[in-house]
Amino acid sequence: MSYLREASGPAAVIHRGDYTAPAFWIDTVDLSFDLDPSKTRVLNKMTLRRNPDVQAQPLRLDGEELNLARVLVNGQGTSFKMDGNQLVLENLPEGTEPFALEIFTTCVPVKNTKLMGLYVSNDSFFTQCEAEGFRRITYFLDRPDVMAMYTVTLRADKAKFPVLLSNGNLVDSGDLEDGRHFAKWVDPHKKPSYLFALVAGQLVAREQRITSRAGKDHLLQVFVRPGDLDKTEHAMNSLMASVAWDEARFGLPLDLERFMIVATSDFNMGAMENKGLNIFNTKYVLANQATATDVDYANIESVVGHEYFHNWTGNRITCRDWFQLSLKEGLTVFRDQEFSQDLCAEPSARAVKRIEDVRVLRTAQFPEDAGPMAHPVRPDSYLEINNFYTVTIYEKGAELVRMMQTLTSRAGFAKGMTLYFERFDGQAVTCDDFAQAIADANPGSALAALLPQFKRWYSQAGTPRVAARGEYDAAAQTYTLHFSQSCAATPGQPVKEPFVIPVSLGLIGAASGAALPLSVDGQAVGGSHLLVLTDAQQSITFQNVAEAPVPSILRGFSAPVVLDFDYSDAQLLALLANDTDAFNRWEAGQRLALRSAINSIASSANSTSATPLNDAYIAAMRAVLRHPTLDAAFKELVLTLPSETYIAEQLDVVDPQRIHAVREAMRLQLATALHADWEWAFAVHENNGGYRPDPVSSGRRALAGMALNFLCLAATQNGDSVWPGKTLQRFKDAGNMTDRFNALQALVNSGHALAGQALARFHALFKDEALVLDKWFALQAGTSDRGGQVLPAVRQLMAHPDFNLKNPNRARSVIFSFCSANPGGFHRADAAGYVFWADRVIELDAINPQVAARLARALDRWKKLAEPYRSAAREALARVAAKTDLSNDVREVVDRALA
Ligand code: ARG
Ligand code: ZN
Repeated sequence: MSYLREASGPAAVIHRGDYTAPAFWIDTVDLSFDLDPSKTRVLNKMTLRRNPDVQAQPLRLDGEELNLARVLVNGQGTSFKMDGNQLVLENLPEGTEPFALEIFTTCVPVKNTKLMGLYVSNDSFFTQCEAEGFRRITYFLDRPDVMAMYTVTLRADKAKFPVLLSNGNLVDSGDLEDGRHFAKWVDPHKKPSYLFALVAGQLVAREQRITSRAGKDHLLQVFVRPGDLDKTEHAMNSLMASVAWDEARFGLPLDLERFMIVATSDFNMGAMENKGLNIFNTKYVLANQATATDVDYANIESVVGHEYFHNWTGNRITCRDWFQLSLKEGLTVFRDQEFSQDLCAEPSARAVKRIEDVRVLRTAQFPEDAGPMAHPVRPDSYLEINNFYTVTIYEKGAELVRMMQTLTSRAGFAKGMTLYFERFDGQAVTCDDFAQAIADANPGSALAALLPQFKRWYSQAGTPRVAARGEYDAAAQTYTLHFSQSCAATPGQPVKEPFVIPVSLGLIGAASGAALPLSVDGQAVGGSHLLVLTDAQQSITFQNVAEAPVPSILRGFSAPVVLDFDYSDAQLLALLANDTDAFNRWEAGQRLALRSAINSIASSANSTSATPLNDAYIAAMRAVLRHPTLDAAFKELVLTLPSETYIAEQLDVVDPQRIHAVREAMRLQLATALHADWEWAFAVHENNGGYRPDPVSSGRRALAGMALNFLCLAATQNGDSVWPGKTLQRFKDAGNMTDRFNALQALVNSGHALAGQALARFHALFKDEALVLDKWFALQAGTSDRGGQVLPAVRQLMAHPDFNLKNPNRARSVIFSFCSANPGGFHRADAAGYVFWADRVIELDAINPQVAARLARALDRWKKLAEPYRSAAREALARVAAKTDLSNDVREVVDRALA
């Protein structure tokens, strides 16, 4: 008897309000795998019992693309039926006594291109079960509130699959007949099915033994393909730092004898926190100085940290249902951001990390929150949960946790974490449970006082806007700031209630540039003050303000809001020069650049001024670049213009080509007006000695790279051939990938004739390094468009022998770099970019719906586009939506976009 079921009929929207506890608990799971790429047999022996708190009902087990061969209850055959993808068992023992359920299925890992469940990559087996991949391995109650103890036996051909891994501890292993062998793993922690993992293949490991503060010994392992071992040192160092940090900052030790990381080159996302057996995209593991950039090193550190921190925030305490996803993701992103900051030796490097994180939030999450896919941090409904692994759940969720820390203090928040684990260790809980624990541990805090209102951050989508206005009374020496807050409607939420918004404030003397001491209600409060906004309108008055001040508002980006303040250019220049808050210093420069961009876009509708930037801005940028004490990483951030996406977000009607032209004109102006300064900056920062990926030396490399980019750009104007020549030489001689890639980028992005030979040489040098080839593809697909040359180049790249649509990293490197990260190339007046997009979405959907749905989001903001883009985008969306056999993933994205 064998049943093969495919998804059938339109799937239903799932609502948070419909949550009910499971009708059965699964206490133990004993899985045996006979691993074979073309037919893997899975024997699943479970003990279940009825949940006494729920009315008796049939057992409905989830399964997807499984061949069902046998079902036994307490060792006996039983009747069952199929309801869509569910296996339904009606004749189960009455009462709450445990019973045994045995299910035998087979699946076809080699045909699994969705990369969910059990799949094959480079002749090895991997799994990805979050969110709902376990049902592609066996029939199960595939939901996070069902937690069980797992025993796993793996059997496979020993020559082809010498390494057999699963969660927990290896308790037995040995040889079998016919060249096969086995390994038996027992996980001592109960876990939800989404944390299950297995790996089998030819892998080698870097190993490290460590002793924790508590005196326990642990084995850390990083598994990679033979040949990649020399690229694992940084991941291992990051893992050791993560273990030490979680113990030091939150008192959370490693609870496993063995902690494994395995890298695979075929992976839908960044990495996965499976208990004791994290599976990573190679992109977030492999690095050496010849193949990885400083940015790669930093990303590896934060993703290794992120997955490790999930061991407590996610695994020990998990989510009751997938609507609570931010419970683990927002909290764990917050933790990985704090980790990366705490690893910085210099305070200025902490600020740089904060600015980078805010930049991601504002360029990716703010648009999401203003578009058709806007959803609360705790969503109310979804069609496909994979579509909700978003910047809102992750990055905005992290900002909510950061605000809780701000409202309770760093020490208070740590106390809150302790209480959270005291209450909920081993359970599957909700975002409410978390917020309540943090508040309860801090009874006197603003968070405790405002908790119900604070929780609107979890339920209301959209980015709040805070408008502020200042009044200085010179005679009374008072300065009053008037605030008002609002939030635009989002899909399904027409009206928003006021949020709790912590606003960190300071004042800078407009004339003196000095940080002014603050006093509020007759009390001196130091140089910074935290005002907590709760009402639609609110004011604060500072006393003893001896000179007209410039307000520095929302220091450190203390809340995820848009701040509107009618700063004059002079005020912004004063903040840029003098603010003691590094974030607002950077922000002042961004506001000045944004203002020039928007003015230039609004004026002369068809011709672009060659000089959108005014002299004062140029002089200020020169002063920052040449500043004697600011560090290079910060300078590089200040001198980076707001992205085209960020500029577009400020406009009601978006002409992407106009934005592109104006921003390119601004870049050219910075290149030429600061030419001598860039030459100076390159000379001063080019030599960094031996390679170390620390913040200080990577900041220097970033600034030197920026200088080269501007010098090559200037060469397109002044006919100079010296700098492009020097750049090619640096490209050839570079001792590390950061310098080499920056030089290559300078040649490619300036469109210089030397770019071709540099690209060819780069390909030849790195033809066997998949992650480096991804950079090679991405650079060409993402390069600045000059008259529409990028789309034909992208089509050629897709025909390149190294291109492979089935590999997510490679698909992203070409298709996403063009459609999602190259607005000037993608938004073409002839609509060819959108036609290309629709074709790729449809093509990818048949292979990997998750990747396709991410790509589908490239047109999220189509309603803001000016004509002819708007109509063409709608047509492309409609063409995709008209397909009747779309995945739920893509269906949800395009239907919401068109709604
Ligand atoms: N929990 C993982 C992480 O953030 C992400 C897994 C997402 N997987 C998915 N198929 N949507 O660390
Ligand atoms: Zn995560």
